[in-house]
Amino acid sequence: MIDRKIIAIVGATGAQGGGLARAILSDPNGGFAVRAITRDVKSEKAQELARLGAELVAADLDDRESMKRAFAGAYGAYCVTFYWSHMSPEKEVAGAKVMAEAAKSAGVKHVIWSTFADTRKLVPLTDNRMPTLMGKYKVPHFDTKSEADHFFTDLGVPVTFLHTSFYWDNFIAMGMGPKKGLDGKLSITLPMGDKKLPGIAAEDIGKCAYGIFKKGPEYIGKSVGVAGGHLTGAQMATAFTREMGQEVSYNEVTPDAYRGFGFPGADDLGNMFQYNRDFEQAFCGDRSIDVTRLLNPALLTLDQWLARNKNAIPVA
Ligand SMILES: NC(=O)c1ccc[n+]([C@@H]2O[C@H](COP(=O)([O-])OP(=O)(O)OC[C@H]3O[C@@H](n4cnc5c(N)ncnc54)[C@H](OP(=O)(O)O)[C@@H]3O)[C@@H](O)[C@H]2O)c1
Repeated sequence: MIDRKIIAIVGATGAQGGGLARAILSDPNGGFAVRAITRDVKSEKAQELARLGAELVAADLDDRESMKRAFAGAYGAYCVTFYWSHMSPEKEVAGAKVMAEAAKSAGVKHVIWSTFADTRKLVPLTDNRMPTLMGKYKVPHFDTKSEADHFFTDLGVPVTFLHTSFYWDNFIAMGMGPKKGLDGKLSITLPMGDKKLPGIAAEDIGKCAYGIFKKGPEYIGKSVGVAGGHLTGAQMATAFTREMGQEVSYNEVTPDAYRGFGFPGADDLGNMFQYNRDFEQAFCGDRSIDVTRLLNPALLTLDQWLARNKNAIPVA
């Protein structure tokens, strides 16, 4: 019997945590075991992880004590928050604090915290190129994560700050896939100008996290960014055209137009894309594809991801 290191995974039934859970479970001799944290151990997704060999533990970020119990005895913890399920800066920060405290109380040896850099370092609130949102943020779902980084360091928790990228899965689930215009032609709409957007298959984020846990101390106290590709809107459209077998063009809009689309979070995403566009070099530079591939040799390119997922992309 191998003595395996338990990784407690928040969001194990979701995109990032699910990728990590499946990466560990598909490597039975890797020396790690999965503790999948879910609010509902009976759900189909949780049960599927159990069938693959995960331990299931019920806990909720809104319940501090449940999270402490869920981290107890774990070697590592994958910590992620769920901004889009509440869109509340206060909840985002509170959730991170709960996880940092749970990791401290359990004496976890290695935490990976899925976070972002604070956009206000490059775009202070006085910079009017993009609106200030909720009174004190430029990109709320980035800035609030960054604001929570200190909970881990203040408590002396051994932490790796993982900077993720735009999920290509948003082309499936977030309604960002190709849409038919009045002329009947397909296009993807982004406010990126001719700049490159780091993107990644969501599943690969978890595989990278597994790579970080395997490397262990080398990554503690460090930040690492991951991406499967740095692509312009035009390059993404070309990949869609190639893989979908029909022409898809890049419909470039301004960040202002994007913010005005009116869906919940459009202003936050408009600012995010504008930040990615205006600071292309810093944003891509923080997300080396070579480093990502070292962590996850199976890293997909956009073409490879599209080849596997094109049939799931709704074409409206
Ligand atoms: N979309 C993108 O392009 C993108 C890119 C980079 C980063 N992000 C960030 O990724 C984060 C979300 O991660 P994800 O995409 O992996 O999430 P996700 O796929 O939406 O998964 C959410 C999972 O977390 C669990 N969960 C939700 N609320 C919870 C709570 N209060 N306590 C405990 N578990 C809870 C749910 O599991 P149960 O129902 O089983 O409890 C759910 O399956 C967001 O903060 C977002 O900003 C998104």
